[in-house]
Formats: sequence, structure tokens, C-alpha cells
Amino acid sequence: MLLPEYPIRTPRLLLRPFARGDLDALYEFHKLPEVNRFLYSEPKDRDQVSAMLADKARSAVLREEGQALSLAAELAGSGQLVGDCTLWWRSQASQQGEVGFVFHPAHHGRGLATEATVELLRLGFDGLRLHRIFGRCDARNVASARVMERCGMRREAHLRENEYVKGEWTDEMVYAILRPEWAGRRPAAGRPGAAARG
Ligand SMILES: CC(C)(COP(=O)(O)OP(=O)(O)OC[C@H]1O[C@@H](n2cnc3c(N)ncnc32)[C@H](O)[C@@H]1OP(=O)(O)O)[C@@H](O)C(=O)NCCC(=O)NCCS
Repeated sequence: MLLPEYPIRTPRLLLRPFARGDLDALYEFHKLPEVNRFLYSEPKDRDQVSAMLADKARSAVLREEGQALSLAAELAGSGQLVGDCTLWWRSQASQQGEVGFVFHPAHHGRGLATEATVELLRLGFDGLRLHRIFGRCDARNVASARVMERCGMRREAHLRENEYVKGEWTDEMVYAILRPEWAGRRPAAGRPGAAARG
């Protein structure tokens, strides 16, 4: 069971549950082709984002395996919603979780996804007492892979053409970090705020 104390503060972000009023901001980036390029999804219309938001707004607590914790990432200064972050509880018996993240392109490349993902890992390890947390991405999704690397996750697999997505065979990469690795990690260096609390 994981019921975080909200909001979760990072140097530049507040992570909090989604609310109905987030529709416009969430639609702003989930509608974009470039955001969906390496996801299973296609650009979404407003109704699709509205349905997705309703689901996310009910996902602020992890009570049992199989559930997702959905967090909105807003800029601490302005309150602008810039990211959509997820921690899935994949297995209780094996203490496994998975992270996912989608950010508005206007805010890419500033270390914000890294900053948020470190907090997802913290929730998984310190809050849910997980043993291993993994993340997956299309092998061409360099930004996603970098986020996971900067968070201290190791590349465990590069699966060749294991999925047929959007009309083509695609490679998938799997990254993961174990509880002892999390406990012994060093903060990522290089950019202000990036994983600074990691
Ligand atoms: C993946 C994503 C969340 C990263 O967000 P972000 O806020 O830009 O991430 P960060 O700034 O924390 O880190 C991005 C890293 O990728 C690097 N990067 C970004 N685009 C890149 C590219 N095209 N080629 C090489 N490196 C790239 C950045 O330089 C940075 O690495 P660095 O810290 O070594 O400089 C964002 O690109 C996104 O929302 N993509 C669309 C949705 C998506 O694919 N989500 C992941 C699903 S698996």
C-alpha cells in the first residue's frame, strides 16, 4: 500500500494527483504526434484525454499490485502542468515496479523528467518497499533511455524487433535498478536540479 503525502516537492517540481482541471494542460501535449512517436498510443483527441484524465485522477494511491500511481508534474514556480508520471506496481510477490513519463516538449531537455523519475523511484523503493523497478522504451527513444540512465538505472536488455508497433517491427530497451543499487546511488551530475535529490 502506498499513499504518498502530497504534494511531493523536488527542486523545481511539485508532483501531485491529477484533477479534473488538468484537462487543457494534459491535452496540450498528449495531442502532439512527437509526444506519441515512441509510445504505443496515437495522438489523442480531447475526449480521449478526458477519459484518460478521469482514470488518472482516481490513481493517487497504490493499494494492490496491478495498479498505477499517476502523478501530475507541475512547475513549482508557476503551477504549470508540464509532465505526466506513472509508477506501476507490477508484482507484490516479487516486489517489482515500473516507471513511465511523458513531458510537454516545450519543457524537454531541462532535466525535469529525470527529476520526477527519481521521485518515482523513491516512492517505489522507500514507500512501497520494492526490490526492483524497471522502465521500457523504444530503442530509438534516446531521451527516455537517457532519463533512465541518469536516474541510475542499468540497461538490461535490447530486445530486437520484439514488437510490431504502428506498422513496423521495433526494438525495445529495458532498464532497471535494484534496491541495493538505489541505496548506494550517487546523485547525477551535470545539470542543475537533475536528480539532485537522487
Ligand atoms: C522522454 C522524455 C520524458 C524526456 O523528458 P525531458 O524532460 O526532456 O528529460 P530530461 O531533460 O530529464 O533528459 C533528457 C535527456 O535526453 C537527452 N535527449 C533528448 N532528446 C535527445 C535526442 N533526440 N538525442 C539524444 N539525446 C537526447 C537530453 O540531452 C537529456 O540527456 P542529458 O541529461 O544527458 O543531457 C520526453 O522526451 C518525452 O516526453 N517524450 C515523449 C514521451 C515519451 O517518449 N516518453 C517515454 C516513454 S518510454
